[in-house]
Amino acid sequence: MESKRIATLTMDDGRSIELPILSGTLGPDVLDLRNLAKLGLFTYDPAFFSTASCSSKITFIDGDAGLLYYRGYPIEQLAEKSDFLEVCYLLLNGELPTPTQQAEFRELITHHTMVHDQLARFFNGFRRDAHPMAVMVGVVGALSAFYHDSLDINNPEHREISAHRLLAKVPTIAAMTHKYNIGEPFVYPKNKFNYVENFMYMMFATPAEEYVPNPVLVRALERIFILHADHEQNASTSTVRLAGSSGANPFACVASGIAALWGPAHGGANEAALKMLEEIGDVSHVKEYVQGVKDKKYKLMGFGHRVYKNMDPRASVMRQTCYEVLKELKLENNKLFELAMELEKTALSDPYFIERKLYPNVDFYSGIVLRAIGIPTNMFTVIFALARTIGWVSQWNEMIADADHKIGRPRQLYLGEKKRDYVPIKKR
Ligand code: CMC
Repeated sequence: MESKRIATLTMDDGRSIELPILSGTLGPDVLDLRNLAKLGLFTYDPAFFSTASCSSKITFIDGDAGLLYYRGYPIEQLAEKSDFLEVCYLLLNGELPTPTQQAEFRELITHHTMVHDQLARFFNGFRRDAHPMAVMVGVVGALSAFYHDSLDINNPEHREISAHRLLAKVPTIAAMTHKYNIGEPFVYPKNKFNYVENFMYMMFATPAEEYVPNPVLVRALERIFILHADHEQNASTSTVRLAGSSGANPFACVASGIAALWGPAHGGANEAALKMLEEIGDVSHVKEYVQGVKDKKYKLMGFGHRVYKNMDPRASVMRQTCYEVLKELKLENNKLFELAMELEKTALSDPYFIERKLYPNVDFYSGIVLRAIGIPTNMFTVIFALARTIGWVSQWNEMIADADHKIGRPRQLYLGEKKRDYVPIKKR
């Protein structure tokens, strides 16, 4: 990356440092601070409010304008016209597939959905009532123990095989966590179904009955998958990149991403948002609940975002999907949805939220759709992890493919004790 523009940093000791200004294809300019360390200087930016941790060609977000593009394609167009596997191909390879590439890719993923039979034994080690995300972290991480034939991360072919395996097998493992949790037998994948149908089949079918996926619900889940597929350098993706920067294998890296996603400030927000709606219980309690938010007693889950200071474009698509699903299921008078609408209206007209630019994010509505589809609340974040797996693996692959990548190693502002001498226990 060459730069002709320069910013000058002048220190109070008279030193002056020239910093190249880098411009991306879209988005704000970025100051190149890489040479500061050679001068013994570090930047201090906890929580990365002002730090670009890498360069990437995968996803672009304009938080002020409320824009989200995957490889340049607006999320609204992909959600309406594409399907999840095509989006996966796009994220992983940079371009939309040709018809032949698409057919080959579908065939490949469809024929890798089964997991090694021995993997099923891992589940017995967990309590039945374990949170499915706890099981996901363990079992997805355990995949590294099964695929020694493709763990050379410096071999592009091995990286591609691992990416395909993750994409194909994570839904199977996700559905297994649910079946284990409710005490039903695991359902093997069925190749006559497409990716999303197959996941619903593995989640909801039992050996006792025929399962026919409802196309409106399949489409809704497909949208949820597309909307969650990638989101540039969020907490879990940055975790995957940092873990991967040490040379760790992709299965271990994705397991680290699942762990980071679990928290309620990130992927756990969809579960927390639905629980919040249930806790509010009735439209008549909305004002009182919002007052509690303003008094800082708790946060409004599914609201606010580090990057979006405008409506999250994913939330707009999700709200529309919500209408479609509730109509299909004849749940238009759904209490939770009414409550969500009232909460949104109340918050968006309140100065607390207006001044802080807090808008609904994707998790505000996805919980209602997932609930309507029949996905239990404790599986919401698992669905997010399933969909984000392609984003994690695409970002990891991009990083490893860059010959100049190095291990990530932040520095710190040390505020602890200065050097002091050890005091023997009798003298303390
Ligand atoms: N409810 C009430 N107040 C909020 C909220 C909220 N959801 N979000 C932010 N604020 C307030 C916050 O208290 C602070 O107020 P003040 O200036 O008085 O101290 C101000 O807005 C700025 O917030 P912040 O905490 O500095 O913002 P952040 O960028 O560090 O946090 C966030 C972003 C997403 C963690 C936060 O908005 C939040 O906790 N939201 C609820 C959880 C949630 O919905 N997370 C899902 C994010 S989207 C899906 C994903 O990518 O994972």
